[in-house]
Amino acid sequence: MSTLRAMEPQDLDEVLALEPELFGAGAWSRGVYEEEITRADRYYVVVTDPAVIGYAGLALGTEATVMTIGVAAGHRRHGHGRTMLAALLDKAWVTGAESVFLEVRAHDDGAQALYTSFGFAPLGVRRGYYQPEGADALVMRLVLRPPTPGPGPVGAEAIEE
Ligand SMILES: CC(C)(COP(=O)(O)OP(=O)(O)OC[C@H]1O[C@@H](n2cnc3c(N)ncnc32)[C@H](O)[C@@H]1OP(=O)(O)O)[C@@H](O)C(=O)NCCC(=O)NCCS
Repeated sequence: MSTLRAMEPQDLDEVLALEPELFGAGAWSRGVYEEEITRADRYYVVVTDPAVIGYAGLALGTEATVMTIGVAAGHRRHGHGRTMLAALLDKAWVTGAESVFLEVRAHDDGAQALYTSFGFAPLGVRRGYYQPEGADALVMRLVLRPPTPGPGPVGAEAIEE
């Protein structure tokens, strides 16, 4: 039975073994992961069965960002992507995010279907975002709650003075 839990340093060997299969030339290094999972403003999860079969990460903030999400090829279409994305969105919600952003390959209809099913909507295209191949990225956004009100007219008047 699979389990979802926070990513730990001892998971990195298994994560790094999957990384090239999932992300090809865009695979992250051990150094990137070591820094990412120790940052206070990040939230990384793994799904284990009992080895790592999927992982995902979120950058926290008012505008949160899905940093990565992947499931090993032999374990796809069993709901693990959906489970991890739900965990990231729960974290975004409880840490006060107003919106969650992500980039997805413009031609990756499968991943886009996953995101759309959670309410993410297309925002724009980043041409040549994925290097070295130069594939375009579709930026998608999920609005979780209305933006925090700004200073309003009082602040605007103060700037004009
Ligand atoms: C995208 C990815 C994480 C999805 O993981 P997954 O565990 O297979 O996804 P789930 O089983 O939770 O799928 C949930 C829903 O998303 C949609 N979906 C996911 N993959 C799909 C595909 N290949 N084609 C069509 N719809 C798909 C379906 O609606 C699916 O529900 P269903 O199976 O009941 O029809 C996985 O395909 C992957 O790791 N891809 C390679 C890495 C990658 O490109 N990551 C995304 C970077 S933006």
